[in-house]
Amino acid sequence: MSSCEYIQYRGIDLPPVAHSMESLEYAQNFSVEDTDVFAVTYPKSGTIWMQEILPLVLNGGDLTPIHTIPNWDRVPWLEEKRLAVVVDQLTSPRALVTHFPYHLMPPSFHASKAKVVYVMRNPKDVMVSSYYFHQMAGFLDDPGTFDEFMAKFLEGKVLFGKWTDHVKSWRRTELGDRIMYITYEEMVQDLPAALRSLSDFLGSNLSEEVIQKIAEHCSFKTMKVNSMSNFSLVPKVLMDSDKSPFLRKGVVGDWKNHFSSEQLARFTSVIRQELENESFPLPWSLD
Ligand code: A3P
Repeated sequence: MSSCEYIQYRGIDLPPVAHSMESLEYAQNFSVEDTDVFAVTYPKSGTIWMQEILPLVLNGGDLTPIHTIPNWDRVPWLEEKRLAVVVDQLTSPRALVTHFPYHLMPPSFHASKAKVVYVMRNPKDVMVSSYYFHQMAGFLDDPGTFDEFMAKFLEGKVLFGKWTDHVKSWRRTELGDRIMYITYEEMVQDLPAALRSLSDFLGSNLSEEVIQKIAEHCSFKTMKVNSMSNFSLVPKVLMDSDKSPFLRKGVVGDWKNHFSSEQLARFTSVIRQELENESFPLPWSLD
């Protein structure tokens, strides 16, 4: 099984291809503006989907950014090296993404009025998506068997730690109406409805015509062939879409094709226990 060197940063492992100690320090010193909007996700929960959507909701549906700028420069990751390179080219209101748990957000975020769209996905589908991602990404450890990968996922020995810690960290009453929670499943079920909620949250006041246009251009089918969004510009040694495309299936419930009944029982019992004292509603059953 091949393994990669990771950067250790405050309890999480990160691949050096995207992060460095400088980029992580840059993120901590980043000056967040009140008008900034962050899409926050645990990896494989729909990050690049929200990355496609946000600029369009903020700019009234102008498709230029999604047709001319690769996603990692269009809506950069707070914690990645590219942010420092492109920061001066971002137009206001800026859209950014991050996989940081709440406690790793920079001080200026807490002092600002920046908004957050937190995208959550059923952890069973997150794990399946991550399993295939580890197979195609040359900068990540080989995932081993599905069973071995499940053990690592449940222990949090994967990028950005445990799924349960991440979702719990972002349930913050102090964020008040600065944060909107949305699920991948809601977006799959009715993307125009999700876009209407986002438009309301961000004060974009989009017409129904623009909502439909954005929904069409952010569909799985359209994004899969958009070279600015499907990572086909990345060298094959880093992302090999012959092993598994980044935009892989884009469905809800693929876990049913992967989990044995024993794995399901194990997974459910761990997640249930870790969310035991939490009151936030889950939009899907853990079983
Ligand atoms: P699958 O591997 O289950 O297909 P992230 O961007 O956080 O890494 O998440 C990647 C997952 O989001 C992948 O899931 C990918 O296919 C899915 N995804 C990306 N864009 C999507 C879209 N427009 N519609 C549905 N799913 C999408």
